[in-house]
Amino acid sequence: MEQFALDAVERLTTRPKVPYETLAVEQLTPVIGAQITGIDLSRELTPRQEKEVKEAFLAHHVLVFRDQHPTPEDHKRFAALFGPLHPDSLPVEGSDPYILEISADKNSRDVAGNGWHADGTADPEPSLGSMLHITRIPETGSGGDTLFANMHLAYDMLSPAMKSLLDGLTAVHDGARPWLTQGLTPPAEYDVPRSEHPVVVRHPDTGRKLLFVNAPYTSHIPQLSRSESEAVLGMLYEHIARTPLLQCRVRWQENTLVFWDNRCVQHHAVWDYYPHARHGRRVAIDGTKPHA
Ligand code: SIN
Repeated sequence: MEQFALDAVERLTTRPKVPYETLAVEQLTPVIGAQITGIDLSRELTPRQEKEVKEAFLAHHVLVFRDQHPTPEDHKRFAALFGPLHPDSLPVEGSDPYILEISADKNSRDVAGNGWHADGTADPEPSLGSMLHITRIPETGSGGDTLFANMHLAYDMLSPAMKSLLDGLTAVHDGARPWLTQGLTPPAEYDVPRSEHPVVVRHPDTGRKLLFVNAPYTSHIPQLSRSESEAVLGMLYEHIARTPLLQCRVRWQENTLVFWDNRCVQHHAVWDYYPHARHGRRVAIDGTKPHA
């Protein structure tokens, strides 16, 4: 690995450890993810617990809470500590617009999120993050893991020359692409969003830079020719997918809740358990407009 990439990893992995009073925080990898114990999400958090969960979220980007039994109302109350709830863009009539059922079984022909992506980046204000509570795992007892990748480190590991090229660019994100790339058209009731965001944005809470393009939604970089845009985006997607060092892998157990920061993490829900079933509920939180 090049020295500039090693330096980026060293900066991240030698940060001083934050002490916690009310939580136990066990890192999943040195660069992304932590398992949190010491809180019960079916109860209101104390102010100290809330402060520490927020600190752990900004430090680790993906938080895993095991053996949790929140009702849908508890789940929404926990999410609302981070901001207004983000309604689903295609709510099922008669269902709670803030709860997205994540479900796959023998009748599924595809599953949500089976590829590297961030959620809803074609929106002018993509979500802050999502909380997914898995209540049923495949009956084989394995499969259906979710991978997460750190977009701060994905940016930091690039060469200085590549960073300075990307720093000046924007990218168009098109909400129709997930359908168009499969030869389908978006549902008529979907008000298709399309937004232009910087390729490199700053995290609104920490100010740290990160890579903000993803294969399902990003159509092109308008400052480049079509072939240059395809080559640069393709290189970045390969970098994310083929650098395991950027990633952690969450192996679900029933009643695990995972909270990820959609502003600086991409995720990939692995569909390796067909014909078995997996089920859960996801609540998302409103985000803000991404800025360079
Ligand atoms: C998603 O939100 O993309 C689905 C995540 C998952 O099912 O693990």
